[in-house]
Amino acid sequence: MWLRMEDVRNGARQRLPRFVFDYVDGGAEDEACLHGNGSDLAALRLLPNCLKDTTTIDTRVEVFGQTWSRPLGVAPVGFNGLVRPDGDVLLARAAASQGIPFVLSTASNERLEAVRAAAPDAVQWMQLYVMSDRAIAEQIVRRAAAAGYGALVLTVDVPVSGMRERDLRNGFKLPFRPGLRTLWDLASHPAWSLGMARAGSPGFVNLSESTDGAASAQLQAALLARAMDRSLVWDSLAWLRRLWAGPLLLKGVLRADDAARALRAGVDGLIVSNHGGRQLDAAPSTISVLQGIVQSVEDRVPVFIDSGFRRGSDVVKALSLGARGVFVGRPAVWGLAANGEAGAREALGLIGTEIVRTLTLMGAACVRDLGPDHVTRSWTSQPQASTR
Ligand SMILES: Cc1cc2nc3c(=O)[nH]c(=O)nc-3n(C[C@H](O)[C@H](O)[C@H](O)COP(=O)(O)O)c2cc1C
Repeated sequence: MWLRMEDVRNGARQRLPRFVFDYVDGGAEDEACLHGNGSDLAALRLLPNCLKDTTTIDTRVEVFGQTWSRPLGVAPVGFNGLVRPDGDVLLARAAASQGIPFVLSTASNERLEAVRAAAPDAVQWMQLYVMSDRAIAEQIVRRAAAAGYGALVLTVDVPVSGMRERDLRNGFKLPFRPGLRTLWDLASHPAWSLGMARAGSPGFVNLSESTDGAASAQLQAALLARAMDRSLVWDSLAWLRRLWAGPLLLKGVLRADDAARALRAGVDGLIVSNHGGRQLDAAPSTISVLQGIVQSVEDRVPVFIDSGFRRGSDVVKALSLGARGVFVGRPAVWGLAANGEAGAREALGLIGTEIVRTLTLMGAACVRDLGPDHVTRSWTSQPQASTR
């Protein structure tokens, strides 16, 4: 039984070959950003109100006219097919079962139409990477609109890939040529290896419009290496706006001035993110910049956050500082790795249950009862003036 997210992570570690576990788990360079996300969340404390009626706790939030059962969602994660065959569909179903949104990555291994069809009543958003050939992005946006995705999430923190040292050490790139160490790794994880042998190697099937899914090997390698269009700038948003009529969000915003600029460009929502510490290792934790961004946005569009959220109390901290909702990446994928759809559901359920318990302990009957006065900085994290 899983009591905490670390149990789920350990389940993933056991099931996955090392190079796959490291691909999911790792961050950029020294992994300072990866760890800073968690330690800055831990340094915040929650200040509860006492003697409040918490007989019923309402965790619902409204976003773009739709109701989420909890202020929680599954962030876009590429290459889920490497974690489990059908990984994207299993994750989408797990999110749907919890009444929370699922964001599908451009780098998914199942066609966006198939993932939409797997949970047609659920909230699903489409994440967009723009590669040098913009025609690829254009066909993805058109297909996402036709399939009924509720919002488009443009990721803006990947002009180039972060330096993921674990992946380089493990030789993880396309075309995949396993060395002796990796062959041993595969042999010692027979359940994963047999599953992959049966399903065949996962491909980036959204890059091509054709249903046989055959994007060139070169293009697929470029996506895994995150070779993006570096000429994508603020003015390019007008191009996307012409293609996409629904809500448009930017994911990867870390500055209040960029948030203000996004509003002027007509963006409908922001996701404060440092990509889970996988891109700019010197970037600040997302929780440390949240309030400044919320203030600059002044409630005109919803602000979401991700990177490092592992507990319901982490989520409540971000909600107190003004986030409309929190996305998680690795926790859902660890659950998927360890036990498929049921595992992802259990991992998401763990955070959900903790949100309810934390709200109850806070004396907050609903999310709207929370405010910045509910958060304080930990004394233990501050230098002491004198020692006794
Ligand atoms: C294995 C992995 C793959 C990811 N792939 C993408 C992606 O394709 N597109 C994207 O916008 N973000 C991607 N992300 C970043 C997540 O959307 C999210 O920002 C991050 O995982 C949040 O941090 P957390 O994992 O600590 O919850 C990926 C993250 C991981 C762990």
